[in-house]
Amino acid sequence: MRATLIEVAPRDGFQPIGPFIPTDDKVAFVEAAHAAGLARIEIGSFVNPKAIPQLRDTAEVLARTAHLPGLDAQVLVPNARGVELALQAGARHLVYVISASDTHNAANVRRDTATSTREYGEVVRALPPGIRLRLNLATSFDCPFDGRMAEAVVLDRLAHMLEHRADVEVGLCDTTGRADPDHVASLAAACLQRWGDSTRFVFHGHDTYGLGLANAAAAWRAGITGFDAAFGGLGGCPFAPGATGNTATEDLAWVFRRMGVETGVDLDALVALAGRAATLPGASPGGRVRVAMLAAGRAA
Ligand code: COA
Ligand code: ZN
Repeated sequence: MRATLIEVAPRDGFQPIGPFIPTDDKVAFVEAAHAAGLARIEIGSFVNPKAIPQLRDTAEVLARTAHLPGLDAQVLVPNARGVELALQAGARHLVYVISASDTHNAANVRRDTATSTREYGEVVRALPPGIRLRLNLATSFDCPFDGRMAEAVVLDRLAHMLEHRADVEVGLCDTTGRADPDHVASLAAACLQRWGDSTRFVFHGHDTYGLGLANAAAAWRAGITGFDAAFGGLGGCPFAPGATGNTATEDLAWVFRRMGVETGVDLDALVALAGRAATLPGASPGGRVRVAMLAAGRAA
């Protein structure tokens, strides 16, 4: 049994942090995550730098980490302009974000979901060969403005996106962290039953209400094997009021190890990295395993 942990701290984790993290430090974080066994890393986004000033150096981080052996670097894009800039910068793996909720889509990317869906179709058709594409369906469970998302609405939105191309990876994103394990299990099962033959699903959880691990476990039991996570439990969408950090990568690595599931991650190296991330000026770290293991290490 194997689960894939996808490290998103350099994008989701850093984006809400105010003080600019110097590019050298961002590169060092990506290198350390890669050295800890995280082969897939979301290293930034190509968005309006006025919307997310922290990630304005993504092109440079991408270029300076391109030599890392086996690194699968993905970058988030919200529109066709982002795709263009990402490809110019040498990105080979794109994550196109759209929200299931119209209200959050308008807040996040300043357009309705119909426009985002149409633009996604154009992007898919124009994508050069060899470029991998992932779809992040934000607010798949809950919207910060509209509350709980009806499963039928989410499945319908996803169906429209997958009409353009079915063999993509889809991130089911709990943007607000207000999903519960039953809800996650239900949507994951519905998606796998309907598209599981062609589409790969990943669970993207936030730990805002302390349910990050429980929700990930529910997704795993439903058959999902890919998980987004952020070292140090950093993260949060600046356009989702109240949302806090992603489920901590070290928490997921720890629980999978306890369950006998291979992740390929060096937990000690990851905890050391998470400890460094937690001290970043302006960061609001989360997770439990970092604190527990660093305390145990000090006691030893
Ligand atoms: N990357 C960089 N710059 C971009 C861009 C992109 N993907 N898309 C647009 N821009 C620039 C335009 O060139 C323009 O620049 P200017 O002000 O210097 O002329 C400016 O942004 C506004 O362009 P416009 O097309 O009118 O965009 P908008 O104001 O409607 O905003 C988004 C749309 C998607 C660009 C913006 O809402 C955004 O970047 N959101 C970020 C979402 C995000 O990262 N959320 C967290 C992760 S889910
Ligand atoms: Zn997120």
